[in-house]
Amino acid sequence: MTEKGTRHYKIACIKGDGIGPEVINEAIKVTEKAAEMFGFTVEWTDLPYGARHYLETGEVLPDEALNVIEKHHALLLGAIGDPSVKPGILEQGILLKLRFHFDQYVNLRPAKSFPQVPLPVKADAVDIVVVRENTEDFYIGLGGRWNEGQGECNLNLERNSYNMTGHLKLELTPSYSAAAQVGVATEGAVRRITAYACKTARARGEDTITLASKSNALSWIYGFWEDVSKDEAEKHGMKLQVANVDALCYHLVRDPSKWGVILTPNMFGDIVSDLLAGIAGGLGVAAGANIGDGLSMFEPVHGSAPDIAGTGKANPVAAILSAGLMLQHLGEEEASKAVEKAVRSYLEGASKEKLPWEFGGQASTETVGDWIAKEIQP
Ligand code: NAD
Ligand code: IPM
Ligand code: MN
Repeated sequence: MTEKGTRHYKIACIKGDGIGPEVINEAIKVTEKAAEMFGFTVEWTDLPYGARHYLETGEVLPDEALNVIEKHHALLLGAIGDPSVKPGILEQGILLKLRFHFDQYVNLRPAKSFPQVPLPVKADAVDIVVVRENTEDFYIGLGGRWNEGQGECNLNLERNSYNMTGHLKLELTPSYSAAAQVGVATEGAVRRITAYACKTARARGEDTITLASKSNALSWIYGFWEDVSKDEAEKHGMKLQVANVDALCYHLVRDPSKWGVILTPNMFGDIVSDLLAGIAGGLGVAAGANIGDGLSMFEPVHGSAPDIAGTGKANPVAAILSAGLMLQHLGEEEASKAVEKAVRSYLEGASKEKLPWEFGGQASTETVGDWIAKEIQP
């Protein structure tokens, strides 16, 4: 890693699959323009992981790649997943492996409305932040699937701050086939993400956070979540209101202006962040960050969108705003603000044809990137 304070940043880049490379190229273009305007430099390391690399070599994400990535200041990622590869292999083998390996326990997903981006709901503006726990819940990949009516699997988990070992044995009579997926929540993980959500709310001048829960049906795991997060929020002088995630989704659609910081376990956060991307105008403007104490990773909320890959219709704004979050994380506060400001002034000034396809315009991925880069100002 380069020395602190040199303002030379080494960024690892996995452009990935489908529209991933298309939108990341625009994020790089805008970051380079910001670097030029704000007097820092960026060195990009392109890593080839994704569907094509897997199909050609059989390799998903080797351990050497993790060592290479670790030597960078951050990782910028497009999207992973392709219809030619069985679902899960690449998503778990690359994306989740990175989140878990670097213990990126925060998945920060702001949902903000932008000028000329039509909202599908009745609201003047949307400004919500999802703070999603990113290392546990039903995402830990433990479980099994059995045809013989009985089966066993290990429940072993290694994390930065703890190791878990265990074993699950099932017998079914009669011997139906069955599957089980195990979700885990630990006190340390719930406390650290709750603390992060409290700090996020405090910085926004708010005194309450909302926990998306479901202890009426899944009492073990989400009852635990409620108890631990309430206690932690109290320590931060923050009120925590609990909402069942089903009703929360209903209320978010009816009136998104009522909500601020939404704290979620991993799986609910995945679902709520796509819902909020839709509410705020589209997946093409939904930025995201995976933050930990070590290497952090920045990626849009959306996936590889194979339905529009190669058409030039992908909206690069989400990837560009994710690069903006990366600049903030690197300490380039002014440049980060300039990126969001550039997105706003491009959208504000754009005639209908100059808008991205997602908003009814005809501007290609590349021209949207060009226009935003042009708007970057010190
Ligand atoms: P998706 O997010 O790729 O697409 C959902 C819908 O939104 C599609 O209609 C798509 O065209 C549209 N869309 C997404 N991004 C857009 C953009 N920037 N501009 C305009 N329209 C956009 O979700 P999916 O179809 O469920 O998943 C496709 C693949 O991506 C799957 O393999 C999935 O596993 C993977 N995936 C990866 C990530 C990631 O890498 N972070 C996230 C979600 C899904
Ligand atoms: C996301 C994606 C991933 C997730 C998938 C691809 C594993 O949907 O980043 O939102 O579920 O976290
Ligand atoms: Mn998702």
